[in-house]
Amino acid sequence: MIYSCGYVKDPAGTVEDFQRDKLQRICEKLRLQPGERLVDIGCGYGGLLIYAAQNFGVSGKGCTLGKRHYERAKANVAAAGLSDKIQIEHAPFDSLTGKFDKLVSVEMIEHLRRSQYKHYVDVVSRLLTDKGMGLLHYIGCTERSNDHDPFIQKYILADTSQPKLSEVVGELEDHDMAVLDVENLVAHYGPTLLAWKKDFMNNSGGSTATATTTALNACGSTTWSVAPPRPSPRQARSITFFLPGTTTAAASPKNLRRRGTGGCLVTTEA
Ligand SMILES: C[S@@+](CC[C@H](N)C(=O)[O-])C[C@H]1O[C@@H](n2cnc3c(N)ncnc32)[C@H](O)[C@@H]1O
Repeated sequence: MIYSCGYVKDPAGTVEDFQRDKLQRICEKLRLQPGERLVDIGCGYGGLLIYAAQNFGVSGKGCTLGKRHYERAKANVAAAGLSDKIQIEHAPFDSLTGKFDKLVSVEMIEHLRRSQYKHYVDVVSRLLTDKGMGLLHYIGCTERSNDHDPFIQKYILADTSQPKLSEVVGELEDHDMAVLDVENLVAHYGPTLLAWKKDFMNNSGGSTATATTTALNACGSTTWSVAPPRPSPRQARSITFFLPGTTTAAASPKNLRRRGTGGCLVTTEA
């Protein structure tokens, strides 16, 4: 299961297509080679590490703060027969140790305060080998005030924020890491949300709780092998409101013009 912006080659595709194509794009941008070590900061349910191990022959480590994420990531790794290759830690990003050839972090920076960006990039720098390469994928914005709107801030993504590209690039340069590539994914966010919404509505069975559970499941990929958590009725109502609303926001001319809502891929080299 992946819960971040997909990569949309064909808007008629499914969530599974979008997420698989996103994972493939990330792995290709990182130029993963068999035998390399990959670290995933904020690994969620472990889908990226599993995909990279299965399709590119890497081994690695991931961390997540969520206990449920940790348990399910461990279960997904075990179900894929990769427990000897992939280690999952239930720990904050700055407790990660070791050196890695490649680093990835997908829609995790948003959980940090701006004051933490420097510390975050300190850790990115520490984890990479001298010839290492990393890819940071996040929802960015172009404005000085980067807090989400009050509804999202309170009910969906509490305590999250959106970095400006210049903030991320500035930190990378201050840590002597060259920026190799930047890709704006704003045009991919609307179709991803629409696909989530479609599965959500198709599978609702008249119950928002069922719909949300199914939608969370549908956001996944072929690596999803453990039943998703059941949301509370309150969470289900919030997500019912959030999906259509955010789809509209992502497709709005203002956001498309400002490139203010959507993912951003920054590939960097130590
Ligand atoms: C939006 S999810 C994205 C998960 C995954 N990368 C994906 O694309 O499906 C954000 C992830 O970052 C993790 N996270 C947030 N803050 C963290 C921190 N301080 N240290 C480690 N992980 C963190 C969360 O626990 C969660 O697994």
